Amino acid sequence: MTQAPTPTTAGPFPQRVFSGIQPSGGLTLGNYLGALKRFAQAQDAGIETIYCIVDLHAITVWQDPEKLRRATRELACGFIASGIDPARSILFNQSQVSAHAELGWVFNCVARMGWLNRMTQFKDKAGKHAENASVGLFCYPDLMAADILAYHATHVPVGDDQKQHLELTRDIALKFNHDFGVEFFPIVEPVIEGAATRVMSLRDGTKKMSKSDPSDQSRINLTDDADTIAKKLRKAKTDPEPLPETAEGLKDRPEARNLVNIYAALSDQTVDQVMAEVGGQQFGTFKPRLADLAVAKLSPISAEMSRLMQDPAEIDRILGQGAARADAIARPILQKTYDIVGMIRSR
Ligand code: AMP
Ligand code: TRP
Repeated sequence: MTQAPTPTTAGPFPQRVFSGIQPSGGLTLGNYLGALKRFAQAQDAGIETIYCIVDLHAITVWQDPEKLRRATRELACGFIASGIDPARSILFNQSQVSAHAELGWVFNCVARMGWLNRMTQFKDKAGKHAENASVGLFCYPDLMAADILAYHATHVPVGDDQKQHLELTRDIALKFNHDFGVEFFPIVEPVIEGAATRVMSLRDGTKKMSKSDPSDQSRINLTDDADTIAKKLRKAKTDPEPLPETAEGLKDRPEARNLVNIYAALSDQTVDQVMAEVGGQQFGTFKPRLADLAVAKLSPISAEMSRLMQDPAEIDRILGQGAARADAIARPILQKTYDIVGMIRSR
């Protein structure tokens, strides 16, 4: 090909959305607002959407096999309950499509040690015991690049914490294209938008809401019942001042800002619109209002998840069908990659 890749766009590639979530147990409000809700919006906008339960990523840290199977099915239910329609989107688990692992190996040979050494998520997850972390955890971002590029996906909706991994995905695509003199892999666009790209802990407005936080009070789980959701929001840490009149006044008030952001994302409003509605209110007034909204939006999702979990065979069937459709897209892209790299394929 003669055209040079444009570094900031997906270039000549048609629009295709890909994203993934790890089945490492439990979905939080952060996953819902930062990821799932926006996955459904992309699907409903009529864009081609591919969503993957990344079980190969999950095993970069130890997983109990039975729990992993359960978490995979539960996550599939979470996707569907959040509005992902397996007929309109491709929904599957990663290990059923071997192109991910195969392309991941090629990218292990493209990415540089120095690039991976800079990944903050590895440093956070490996902590002080990096020598004891699995090699898989270190090269996790190469597999993530393979997930996306095996489909020539162009747009990747994620929460803010995945930005650095997507930059690495772009670097891998650029280096591959450059090293082999091709314009084969698209330069993906991260889609990190809206009021809830980083939902914070309910106990500490400077920490991300996370399923791995030891305190269950710090997060809202998609499986929490209405009472629990309301209680957690009413008890959420705040400062003693009432809400400011404008968004500007939230600047140095992380807990207040977080609750307003959650309200905005749940009600599909901008932060400015929310401030026009609730600016100046005491938390004693605002929190019950937020709790009502959260319960109204989340309870149907949690109810639908439990309903879907009753039929594991049906979930497995959906994942299998999704995997077959995913494989049909990824396999030819992998074959072409092998051709470009110089592998003989004679069967
Ligand atoms: P994970 O559960 O770490 O596999 O994350 C799955 C998706 O949810 C990714 O797109 C994350 O960026 C997103 N996500 C996770 N936690 C949060 C959060 N607290 N706020 C916003 N997005 C989040
Ligand atoms: N690393 C992502 C996370 O922890 C999950 C993930 C794996 C992913 N492969 C992906 C996200 C591909 C987007 C695209 O949240």
